[in-house]
Amino acid sequence: MTMTQHTAASTLQVLACLTLLSACVDTPTELSPDQDAGAGASTPTPDGGDGEGSSGPSYADDIFPILNSHCIGCHGGASAMGRVDLSTHERALRQVSPGAPEASSLYTAIVEERMPPAGVQPVSEDSLEQIRLWILDGAAP
Ligand code: HEC
Repeated sequence: MTMTQHTAASTLQVLACLTLLSACVDTPTELSPDQDAGAGASTPTPDGGDGEGSSGPSYADDIFPILNSHCIGCHGGASAMGRVDLSTHERALRQVSPGAPEASSLYTAIVEERMPPAGVQPVSEDSLEQIRLWILDGAAP
């Protein structure tokens, strides 16, 4: 009986730990001042930080923030103008041919200066290059 309770309690702890994984694993790091610096400055380095296999750009880390500043106001959820929705990886892929930026309207619309429309801050060359590399690299999530 007590064994069972004990086991149950441990299981709960493990579950709680898994749920709050970041809280358990991440100790507040004084080691990473570049995280803040990196956010603002455009540093197209292959993430030296987590050095896991794929070093190419990803939708979540690299592309969403760009689209969010320049596109998603008009191309997200309810306001998917021209039926173009760029607010999730899956939806954005409808405007993308992975491996072929020149065949991806998400890219060509910017290169050919159709998008964003006048009045919206244009996409910087760095950001455009990120988008090109992301598509070329297979348009990872
Ligand atoms: C101010 C609103 C607005 C913003 C911001 C905007 N778009 Fe659009 N977009 C539209 C509208 C409206 C259409 C449909 C009419 C048209 O084709 O011009 C459209 C159409 C498109 C199309 C399909 C037609 C084509 O030209 O290929 C793509 C792709 C596109 N947008 C991509 C983008 C991208 C990428 C961004 C961000 C860099 C962006 N848009 C920002 C309003 C916007």
